[in-house]
Amino acid sequence: MSTQQVLDWLQTNEEQSIERFMDWLRIPSVGTDSKHDADTAKAADWAADHLKASGFSVEIKPTGTAEDPGQPIVLATSPGDADYTGPHVLFYGHYDVQPADPIELWESAPFEPIRKPAEGAMGERIVARGACDDKGQVMMFLEAMRGWYESTGKPGGGVKYTVLLEGEEESGSVNLERFVEDNKEMLSQTDVCLISDTGMLGRGKPAITYGVRGLTYLEVILTGPDQDLHSGLWGGRVPNPINELVKVLAQLWDQDRKVTIPNFYEGVRDLKDSERKEWESLGVDPVKALQGIGMPAEANVGEKGFSAIEREWARPTCDLNGIIAGYTGPGAKTVIPSQASVKLSFRLVDDQDSERIAESVIAWFHERTPPGCTWEFINHGGGAPATCATESAPLQAAFRAIGKACGIQPAMIKSGGSIPVAGLLKTTVGLETIFMGFGLEDDRVHSPNEKFELDCFRMGAKSHAALVEELLNS
Ligand code: BES
Ligand code: MN
Ligand code: MN
Repeated sequence: MSTQQVLDWLQTNEEQSIERFMDWLRIPSVGTDSKHDADTAKAADWAADHLKASGFSVEIKPTGTAEDPGQPIVLATSPGDADYTGPHVLFYGHYDVQPADPIELWESAPFEPIRKPAEGAMGERIVARGACDDKGQVMMFLEAMRGWYESTGKPGGGVKYTVLLEGEEESGSVNLERFVEDNKEMLSQTDVCLISDTGMLGRGKPAITYGVRGLTYLEVILTGPDQDLHSGLWGGRVPNPINELVKVLAQLWDQDRKVTIPNFYEGVRDLKDSERKEWESLGVDPVKALQGIGMPAEANVGEKGFSAIEREWARPTCDLNGIIAGYTGPGAKTVIPSQASVKLSFRLVDDQDSERIAESVIAWFHERTPPGCTWEFINHGGGAPATCATESAPLQAAFRAIGKACGIQPAMIKSGGSIPVAGLLKTTVGLETIFMGFGLEDDRVHSPNEKFELDCFRMGAKSHAALVEELLNS
């Protein structure tokens, strides 16, 4: 029995695979919104049933406590052939999706997936929340597993897999952290983690991602007077929390767009010349990418001394993600608000430590407390950066699998996004991760009109199918 039969199966059964994919997308599994708890449970059950139908042994693990329930974890295993000598692979994915807002910007309903024909550069695609992040990418693996089972009668095609699907990735994976702590023993039986939740180099250019950035996410609230005030009577007499907050925030970056917080760059390693050259040779066009988001060439700015790709893949950043303050309703209101707040996040690289960065940031704000005002901080969590070994046997197997399935060698890339589970598994059970993702830069993940192109779906399903044979032979 060989990969070719499974590839044939994928082709013959493609319509049904896509139907199943769209069924899953119809379940609005917004993990962060408790109104959707019944839906997340349903989406977890849906995935469990799919894996059961592919011969896996499946359990649904409730998480959290009675007072503070978490989203369920789907845990499935295939036993592996009796003579299987390859690695025990931990496949990780998430079935939760981002909230659909702002809903009015969707051209079709976010949880009524539609199939749209190719237009312009875009290929045929499925449009829905979660189409790419991460249901579509998990689906490529699920359908490859289905294909192997129906072709051979063996779950996982004879590879030893543990499948772990969580429902809180988009909201900080708090209960996954506990689950990993509590199941160290079981997880340390696995040899490598495999994740499909990243992107490719471009259309038709598959890639393996060998590093993702970490994250620190804080909310900072500045309180001044104990009440909102008339700005005519009080303006110029007391600190206005909005004025004061924005003055402090403006100090976060210097002239070279470097972050000014002391010790922020501790643990950031210098880029190797060889890596810089390799990245340059990938031929990524930053100006073209900017065009795709409606920006001109002069918008190619960021930390001085680094190219756009270097800034995304290898440099830490600070971004304000939301500012809430004062009057934002229709018309004018002359007011000095009692409070102003900001949500800000930092992308981290190399050996930067998420918790230490949070401490440095908080100390930095304390040194800039406006007269008579007070700060409050909420840490929304984060995650460690992860850089993965590129020489490992499982990664080489993935490399060959993608090459055979797609007819083109994958590029080795990094990503500016964050997938905290990789760092978590590395520190708790010493696992390396292989990121084998098939998204495109214009998939609009986390945005209205998220889509996943069917050509990407096909490449991913075929690559996961081909990986089975590479693992069986390793
Ligand atoms: N799948 C994304 C991360 C991603 C996207 C990595 C594209 C590489 C390429 C993931 O679901 C995500 O959105 N992660 C969050 C962090 C999380 C802690 C909320 C992120 O990167 O903002
Ligand atoms: Mn994701
Ligand atoms: Mn996401």
